[in-house]
Amino acid sequence: MSLSDRDQQHLWHPLTQHKITKDHLGISSAKGVFLYDEQGNKYLDAISSWYTCVYGHCNAHIVKRVTEQVAKLDQIVFAGFTHEPAVVMAEKLMQILPSNQQKVFFSDNGSTTVDVAIKMSLQYHFNKQKKKLKIIAFQNAFHGDTFGAMSVSGLDVYNGPFEDVVLKVDRIEIPTLENRTQVLDQFQQLISSDEVACFIFEPLVQGANCMNMYEAAYLDELLEIAKAKDVVCIADEVMTGFGKTGKYFASDYLTHKPDIMCLSKALTGGMVPMGLTTCTQKIYNAFYDDNLSKGFFHGHTYSANPIACSAAIASIELIQTEEIQRGIQKIHQSHTVFVNTIQHHKKVKNTRVLGVILAIDLDINIARYGKDRNTIFNYFMDKGIFLRPLGNTIYILPPYVTTEEQLNLVYQTILNYLDHL
Ligand SMILES: Cc1ncc(COP(=O)(O)O)c(C=O)c1O
Repeated sequence: MSLSDRDQQHLWHPLTQHKITKDHLGISSAKGVFLYDEQGNKYLDAISSWYTCVYGHCNAHIVKRVTEQVAKLDQIVFAGFTHEPAVVMAEKLMQILPSNQQKVFFSDNGSTTVDVAIKMSLQYHFNKQKKKLKIIAFQNAFHGDTFGAMSVSGLDVYNGPFEDVVLKVDRIEIPTLENRTQVLDQFQQLISSDEVACFIFEPLVQGANCMNMYEAAYLDELLEIAKAKDVVCIADEVMTGFGKTGKYFASDYLTHKPDIMCLSKALTGGMVPMGLTTCTQKIYNAFYDDNLSKGFFHGHTYSANPIACSAAIASIELIQTEEIQRGIQKIHQSHTVFVNTIQHHKKVKNTRVLGVILAIDLDINIARYGKDRNTIFNYFMDKGIFLRPLGNTIYILPPYVTTEEQLNLVYQTILNYLDHL
């Protein structure tokens, strides 16, 4: 029996209606930008496996660091103990984070970094004896699948069955040239109640919302209002972090830096899961007290797992290299040239580029999940390209080590697809 057949006996996949989707392609190995299936077919990973493996799969530098660590210290409780990989990782991270970020709190994935950020914000005010319980988030945001993260997410395709039990959240639209004044007014009004604990946002790009992009200047206007009222500003950089937008972090484009940042995905270069919630000294100080109960009583078993920390150390070392920085710039330039050639194609409604992210809205009407979307997915897989369309949006976010030739193959396949429509 193939992996795919054996899979059906016991496995339950994420984001999947199993009655409709029976086969899951068995992937047996990956190296660089390629995935290899059981039959030996190869697929170019044009979305860096959900934005994680940006230095290429099984990157030699990350493998080396992790291999060394595996034989030295595997796991240790992080309450009451510390270790070198955690300390070094935090020191290295500080070299690239916005300078107002000072403290690092560990968890296991993107969703938990958001839950931690929300709890931190609520307790920050609680510890200061302020009753601030309201949360503001953007419409159509995506912050993850745990209850806190799901509450601040606005994509109802995920939240439907849970709408009545999630945290209450006030939502505002993403600011654009057209609605900017109304959004600012609404935001100001919500915040003037003095009851708002935090404002969470995906800076500059809403990934799951079809790579919807918006201006740093408009976000800065909101942040200025929030900061004046001590509303904790949370940048969810789980998707945008570590070079995707062309800078280390999307927050680097902002004048008003976030109070809290959520990091995961490319943090470990796709080698192992880990999440970090970082914060300013000011946030941390609200927890620093003789009173035990003012501490942050949140802790995951695998907090600061040494092996995950070693993968993060290697990844941070990689993003600081000239080679990777050059890779990011080159991909950005190639994307810009490519969109110029296709933006007037009759099947293209809209194009967007930021850093290594390229999104193309097709001029066809299809649902986010379903047969038509699967047809696009299958078209590209048949041509050896792995990408996951979001409804009628095709996007790519290739590993920073993708060569010009490999990129051209992806572009040409997209062009052929557009012509065949
Ligand atoms: C912006 C953002 N936040 C949070 C998450 C959740 O991360 P995870 O799937 O690791 O829980 C995602 C996942 O795609 C994301 O894009």
